[in-house]
Amino acid sequence: MDVQSLNHQRSEIQSQYEGYTPKPSKPWPWSTTISYLLREQRLLFVLVGVAIATLFFSVQPEVRKPILQPETKANDFVPKFSSQMLAVRSQVSADPMAFVRPGAKIPLGLKRKPLRIVVTGGAGFVGSHLVDRLLARGDNVIVVDNFFTGRKENVVHHIGNPRFELIRHDVVEPLLLEVDQIYHLACPASPVHYKFNPVKTIKTNVMGTLNMLGLAKRVGARFLLTSTSEVYGDPLEHPQKEEYWGHVNPIGVRSCYDEGKRVAETLTMDYNRGASVEVFYVRIARIFNTYGPRMGIDDGRVVSNFVAQALRKEPMTIYGDGKQTRSFQYVADLVEGLMRLMEGEHIGPVNLGNPGEFTMLELAEVVRETVDPQAKTEFRPNTEDDPHKRKPDITRAKKFLGWEPKISLREGLPLMVDDFRRRLFGKSKGSSL
Ligand SMILES: NC(=O)c1ccc[n+]([C@@H]2O[C@H](COP(=O)([O-])OP(=O)(O)OC[C@H]3O[C@@H](n4cnc5c(N)ncnc54)[C@H](O)[C@@H]3O)[C@@H](O)[C@H]2O)c1
Repeated sequence: MDVQSLNHQRSEIQSQYEGYTPKPSKPWPWSTTISYLLREQRLLFVLVGVAIATLFFSVQPEVRKPILQPETKANDFVPKFSSQMLAVRSQVSADPMAFVRPGAKIPLGLKRKPLRIVVTGGAGFVGSHLVDRLLARGDNVIVVDNFFTGRKENVVHHIGNPRFELIRHDVVEPLLLEVDQIYHLACPASPVHYKFNPVKTIKTNVMGTLNMLGLAKRVGARFLLTSTSEVYGDPLEHPQKEEYWGHVNPIGVRSCYDEGKRVAETLTMDYNRGASVEVFYVRIARIFNTYGPRMGIDDGRVVSNFVAQALRKEPMTIYGDGKQTRSFQYVADLVEGLMRLMEGEHIGPVNLGNPGEFTMLELAEVVRETVDPQAKTEFRPNTEDDPHKRKPDITRAKKFLGWEPKISLREGLPLMVDDFRRRLFGKSKGSSL
């Protein structure tokens, strides 16, 4: 083809397009769209699709974001979720429901897969009641205990349950287990026991807590520390709020316990703040005096002392003038609070206690009413560093956990008395634990 014929062809094509103008766009024909949707039940399919998508997003596996508490500084804990970390977390808990937002509804037909939970100190007084609740909920529980103050009798009713395991182990030594949650209770709690070997007590608090935090971090488990109202020492503020830093003797006979728990709290928060912290979460409960069945009969705690003495027809020993106050919560209330704290979004520390305040003289009166109206009292000099007042402010627990104690001293004490009577004399008035 020569140049002339090429030019001719080009001018023909140009002349064809010279008169071209694009069509003006028409407004969207809504009536056509609506009639299209109405035909052959298409609208129904669209609505069903929207409903499925809404359901999916409302229960969508969501990483449990640690919510920064109002009192947590912005740089305290910056969660960094890389895809690698999420992969680690999902290996630890292959359970899709483990990520369902607490409080979110479990969709119909989808059951929560049982969690694997370690309870250190699970053969003790509080621990054994917690184990009962966790197993009743359907979870798998591993109790780790060295039986210093705990008793196999407290958990013997679970032996043979395939979801229950009991390991004799001292938490001062490291331990590796694959678990989703760790309730760390292992520590002697009564003055008689924690003063028996104070160095071991502080070692349990420091080394034991370090080991359990290390385990939690390693496997991405949620960790709950059972701290104590003793961190407030002999308080100068009343009632005690979590913001109060306490008034503690660092070198007294109770310091192995009080300061030990304070260090345990420090370790817990430092792990939480630590730059290398990956996907694991901590909780701190500050427990106030708790009583109930399975308490050590001669463990030196005031409620168990009074009840055991009144049952044995011995005078109830009151140290000092008996005007010092304590608040007493029933163990079932405490267990409920611990579980809510573990499952919730609040790191703590959170006071768990009954704000009802009793002097030792008033407590002796309630024990007299419950056990023996003839029971006598005897007075002895007060013990060193005995706090004068103790009463929890539970505003935080109410606000963040929706928790408050339900069982009064007059309701709970008979349950404990019945258990003590059975253990001391082998007979019971028929009430269960
Ligand atoms: N009961 C209360 O009034 C109260 C008050 C404040 C805090 N707390 C805390 O709650 C937790 C449980 O208290 P509790 O009243 O059930 O006491 P407890 O003495 O009945 O139970 C403690 C358990 O920990 C075990 N233990 C102790 N040292 C251990 C170690 N080194 N390794 C492994 N196991 C060990 C004991 O054998 C026992 O089974 C403790 O951490 C305690 O400090 C209890």
